[in-house]
Amino acid sequence: MTTRILLKLLLAALLLVGPFGAQPARAQSVLLQNAPGRRVLSLNGSWNYIIDPYENGFYDYRRMAFDQSKTGKGGYYDNQKPSSAQESELIEYDFDKSPAMQIPGDWNSQDPRLLYYEGTIWFKKSFSLKPQAGQRYFLYFGAINYEAHVYLNGKKLGMHKGGFTPIQYDITGLLSAGGDNFVVVKADNTRHPDAVPTINTDWWNYGGITRDVFIAATPATFITDYKVQLAKNDASKLNGYVQLSGAEKAGQAVTLSIREAGLKQTLKTDADGRATFSLPAKKLKLWSPQSPKLYAVSLSSGADAVQDNIGFRTIETRGQDILLNGKSIYLRGISMHDENPLIPGRARGEGDLRMLLTWAKELGCNYVRLAHYPHNETMLRLADEMGLLVWAEVPVYWTIAWENPATYQNAEAQLADLIAMEKNRASIVVWSVGNETPLGEPRLKFMTSLVRKARSLDDTRLLAAALELHRDGFRVNVDDPLGAELDLTSFNEYAGWYWGGSPSGITQYTFNIKYDKPVVVSEFGGDALAGYHGDAETRWSEEYQESLYRNQIKMLSAIPGLRGMTPWILADFRATRRQHPVYQNGFNRKGLISSTGVKKKAFYVLQDYYRQMAQQYDGK
Ligand code: GCU
Repeated sequence: MTTRILLKLLLAALLLVGPFGAQPARAQSVLLQNAPGRRVLSLNGSWNYIIDPYENGFYDYRRMAFDQSKTGKGGYYDNQKPSSAQESELIEYDFDKSPAMQIPGDWNSQDPRLLYYEGTIWFKKSFSLKPQAGQRYFLYFGAINYEAHVYLNGKKLGMHKGGFTPIQYDITGLLSAGGDNFVVVKADNTRHPDAVPTINTDWWNYGGITRDVFIAATPATFITDYKVQLAKNDASKLNGYVQLSGAEKAGQAVTLSIREAGLKQTLKTDADGRATFSLPAKKLKLWSPQSPKLYAVSLSSGADAVQDNIGFRTIETRGQDILLNGKSIYLRGISMHDENPLIPGRARGEGDLRMLLTWAKELGCNYVRLAHYPHNETMLRLADEMGLLVWAEVPVYWTIAWENPATYQNAEAQLADLIAMEKNRASIVVWSVGNETPLGEPRLKFMTSLVRKARSLDDTRLLAAALELHRDGFRVNVDDPLGAELDLTSFNEYAGWYWGGSPSGITQYTFNIKYDKPVVVSEFGGDALAGYHGDAETRWSEEYQESLYRNQIKMLSAIPGLRGMTPWILADFRATRRQHPVYQNGFNRKGLISSTGVKKKAFYVLQDYYRQMAQQYDGK
């Protein structure tokens, strides 16, 4: 083997291990399916924090990591306190005397000093929980952006990279017998070229613990994972599995019951604690946006039981049609970020999420594109409940480090965690492996591997990505080689904003699409400052955006295989790159709704079009 290859392998190994010595650099797999259904103690609320741009709480002055030293002590994660009132020891931090912020919540929107902050912030939460014999305990974070080191009672639980998928640690045996515990998190939202996403994005780099934190509990042998869904393209079969974990996992009885459907089946786990099933699904009412029927599914085994509300539907493509439960549909969609525009910051909980989806329903949507990263688990449960189909995505966005093995591992781990977390959600019909990634062999190899990984984990949903396009004159060519691997032909096109002159001229463009697959346009749009009025040629005005939507719809309707769209974007959102002092001020203004909740004129153009499409496809 040549030296070059050896060096590459050595580099790959080092990158996988990560800079902190033995810590695994990839996201850990989801430990508990439906962890919120096992919650015993919420840790949401007030957490003390210390801003630490020099990472003084992690490295000594020689830049040696405290948690890799012989004692492992010395970092802020010890939450050290003086042993006497004289404060004789030299301790140069004190969580309890430091400020506090609300968790879940990004730090940028909670402390004016932190609006643009990129670096490390330490968080500490004390809590009381007395461990019960025979119980297992899990510490769950809905998301921490971007890199997190997590400690319980001064002991390191692990390090996680990836700002949008759950982090879970088995903390059985690590809770203090007396019940007094504390958790410390080192959160670092520094951007890196080899990260996922990479250093350049068009959204705000919100840092911190941005989603729910809680402790879940289960019996010693417990149901750690399950999938209960209809077979691919076959509504007569209920397929899936139940996975036990724990000493007694093999040869156990597991009962699956859907009382309302008169279904009850006892299964037996194999030597690995797994029971797979394929049952007749004769009496299940199918889930759809018009009728989002959810069933209470109960799973039990020994001392453990878990319940989940699950919808059942099939999704497939046939030529240029998308079939939901065997019927051709049109995806009346909108793209959205995980952000509450009214109090700019990551969506903080169910209220924010329900508001966003209610706006989408008001627009006449039956579909949402949750860009550009995995959204809150609660968002998907609300989509199930409210009847909205979903495009879910990993943040493989723009110029990723395609040839870095650790970058691929990270992207694949985020995709695997997304699918593991959301595989029982009827609303999700599309897994997207990325957005607007520049053509090239390394990118094609990277994205194709992600597509195949997704299909190996879940063969029931459609695969997509926002493909590249190129123009010659008024012909827009969509022949991105990645399209051959996907079920949908999706692309972002900004005729009337980034190219093609003003909106009035864009209907001259025609689309030359290489693939005989359903076309779902993943983005189009233009900025408008709400309340700024001019004529249809006045950029940044509501009238310009209104004209752009009218002409986009006319132009795209000429595509024979058009079966949906998710214009960019539901609401104005914070974006660091958007710096025009009058029209933007750090916001991307392509929203149909402004950052003060005002519906712009273009909102009603799209709403009107969706009313027509609902009539045409759903006859309602
Ligand atoms: C891109 C990208 C979005 C971005 C948008 C824009 O297509 O996918 O994340 O915000 O265009 O330029 O506004």
